[in-house]
Amino acid sequence: MSDQKFNIYGDAYIPTTGAHGANISQQRMDALDIECLKYIDDLNRRYPDDPVRVVDLGGGAGEQSKKMADHGAEVLLIDLADQKGLIDTIQPLHAKGKFGFVQSDVRCVPENLWPNPIDCIYSQRALNYLTYSDCLDLLTRLRGRSRQRTRLFLSMGGVNAEYGADYSARYAPIERRFGRLSPEMSAKHGIHVEICLYTKDELSALVRAAGFIPERTWLSAFGSPKLIATV
Ligand SMILES: C[S@@+](CC[C@H](N)C(=O)[O-])C[C@H]1O[C@@H](n2cnc3c(N)ncnc32)[C@H](O)[C@@H]1O
Repeated sequence: MSDQKFNIYGDAYIPTTGAHGANISQQRMDALDIECLKYIDDLNRRYPDDPVRVVDLGGGAGEQSKKMADHGAEVLLIDLADQKGLIDTIQPLHAKGKFGFVQSDVRCVPENLWPNPIDCIYSQRALNYLTYSDCLDLLTRLRGRSRQRTRLFLSMGGVNAEYGADYSARYAPIERRFGRLSPEMSAKHGIHVEICLYTKDELSALVRAAGFIPERTWLSAFGSPKLIATV
């Protein structure tokens, strides 16, 4: 881990794969993380006999996943990076079957591994590594595993955040927006692959197209769009 702070929050650069940005959830919680935990508590109160089933898409080292499991949810963490070492320390803290990890591209998770139904679909700072159409396809499939009580908690990199200014795909329409950050921003944020950056309205339109109903959207201080949606 570098001691150097790389953003306005004073986060340190904790790598994930080495190409897909920094692990933030290990360093601090934000409003989306907190709202998701509150919703899990709410479901536990309303449906005490029905486990809350959660997926954390691109959850990195699994800090938010761990918190969701601590709040009683059955969690499936999916990430490209090999997190088995960390997961081995988390899993024994929870009842058998309550905390699962799949090392995979989120687009390729076998159908039988997804929970059904899913009550909370959570993803922070990760689905921007998919093209818009792959992301739409994934969210549409997860919408198919949702029920009335399901909520989506989602954030993406922002096209108007500091790294959007000289991003190669800045002026492409969202359906074709997939490009590299400038060399300076790639190095600063540890992002060395193509990425799809969103405005708040584009994020809302994406989840609407996938069949969800945006309930609340906002921009973080850094400029990342965040969203909570219902079905
Ligand atoms: C910037 S990190 C965010 C990690 C964590 N969600 C957080 O907010 O701290 C992005 C994560 O997305 C994961 N990721 C990127 N593309 C992915 C994909 N197609 N399938 C699964 N995980 C992916 C990376 O491995 C990395 O852990």
